[in-house]
Amino acid sequence: MSVSPSGSAASKGSLEGSNAQRGLWSSRLAFILAATGSAVGLGNIWKFPYVTGENGGGAFVLVYLLCIAIIGIPIMMAEVMIGRRGGRSPVNSIKAIARRDGLNPAWKLVGAVGILAGFLILSFYSVIGGWAISYVGTTASGQLSGQTADAVGAIFSGLLSSPGTLLLWHTVFMALVMLVVAKGVRSGLERAVSILMPALFVLLLIVVGYAMTTGHFGQAAAFLFQPDFSQLTTSGILVALGHAFFTLSLGMAVMMAYGSYLPKNISIAKTSVTVSVIDTGVALLAGLAIFPIVFANGLEPGAGPGLIFQTLPLAFGQMPMGSLFGTLFFVLLIFAAWTSGISLLEPIVEWLEEQKGMNRTVSTLGAGGVCWALGITSILSLNLWADFAPLGFIPMLEGKTIFDLLDFFTANILLPLGGLLVAVMAGWVMSKQAMEKELALSPGMFNLWFVTVRFITPIAVGVVFIYNLA
Ligand code: TRP
Repeated sequence: MSVSPSGSAASKGSLEGSNAQRGLWSSRLAFILAATGSAVGLGNIWKFPYVTGENGGGAFVLVYLLCIAIIGIPIMMAEVMIGRRGGRSPVNSIKAIARRDGLNPAWKLVGAVGILAGFLILSFYSVIGGWAISYVGTTASGQLSGQTADAVGAIFSGLLSSPGTLLLWHTVFMALVMLVVAKGVRSGLERAVSILMPALFVLLLIVVGYAMTTGHFGQAAAFLFQPDFSQLTTSGILVALGHAFFTLSLGMAVMMAYGSYLPKNISIAKTSVTVSVIDTGVALLAGLAIFPIVFANGLEPGAGPGLIFQTLPLAFGQMPMGSLFGTLFFVLLIFAAWTSGISLLEPIVEWLEEQKGMNRTVSTLGAGGVCWALGITSILSLNLWADFAPLGFIPMLEGKTIFDLLDFFTANILLPLGGLLVAVMAGWVMSKQAMEKELALSPGMFNLWFVTVRFITPIAVGVVFIYNLA
């Protein structure tokens, strides 16, 4: 979703990037819609189920939920607070706060980490968005109806093995994102979120309803919610932590950018909790939709990034009106991915505009174009370069393709690092008085938040890093 307030984006297009006269979100709801549009995306529906499957289920889910609650929500609050206090684009907000609170201007590095992360994430995010586009045709054509798991798997392998098709849909997805970012007109899209997100939720419920008829719902619920700690590895904990950042769009200053438009009288804590609860709800529903299908068809929970494309089509092939629901589902998934993709590109473009004085169209074409080109390496990782593991000599990166590396490096390293910097900035260097005023919490709640960003987040991220990287 966009980083500018609904309704005013079109009219104030030329002012974007200047610090004068920034519009504000019209309401708490507008902010929640935009932030939810960024947060809810492929991370919830594509990534959450497959990383859960790869990491053994319940115990991983529990760690993920803990990371959301004790790291994600406090960091989201910190990002929104920094954005609102700074009142500018992330890099300039941090600069402004640094000036006011007497911090070292090097803190703007937080913004730089974010820009790099957004860039790398969007390159492969767009490839997966392309898979979703391709599945609209697959479901709409009715070729899935009554298919076996093998046939559905073959359709998916067929897609992965054709670089040309993947490139086509990756290009379409990236073009959709660039179009919206270049135009700077997102008010329509923002309003659409309020209809399409609930629609996606309802369709997920329909698939969950179907999943209940497979006779394996209980097994799936146990897989997701009964922690078996023997399945949990240190790398699983790192993935859970990284995914908490990824799914909430944290660690790359997106929420900072949104926060800069949040009116002063709106509670940062309540809105952050709302966005996080919606995001987590969508992910858990996706899990409940997918795992019964996995178990009912004897599929492998740890099948990897293809998991939803090998399971959901089976459900759509078997349920009544499956072609219709399936088509709608993938259209809504594209929409969810689109609003997230926009929030990945927007900060880069804004930064190019502000820092390099480029106009919006040129900076969108430049940044989007380079991202698109980088995406080609992810496409090739799925076929021609499938056996190419450039950093395979490092034990924990063994067998990882370029696509795997981009995912690993961004979600598990860069985002937690960005979050760590935000936590240290809020917990150790910013003016405490100013933060108290900005968050407007009861003293008890403020202290709880403060202790969390000051100690718990840095220690947790630090420990997970040291365990995994040392
Ligand atoms: N949260 C999105 C998802 O779950 C992905 C995303 C969008 C993102 N913007 C981000 C991740 C910023 C990290 C940072 O699909």
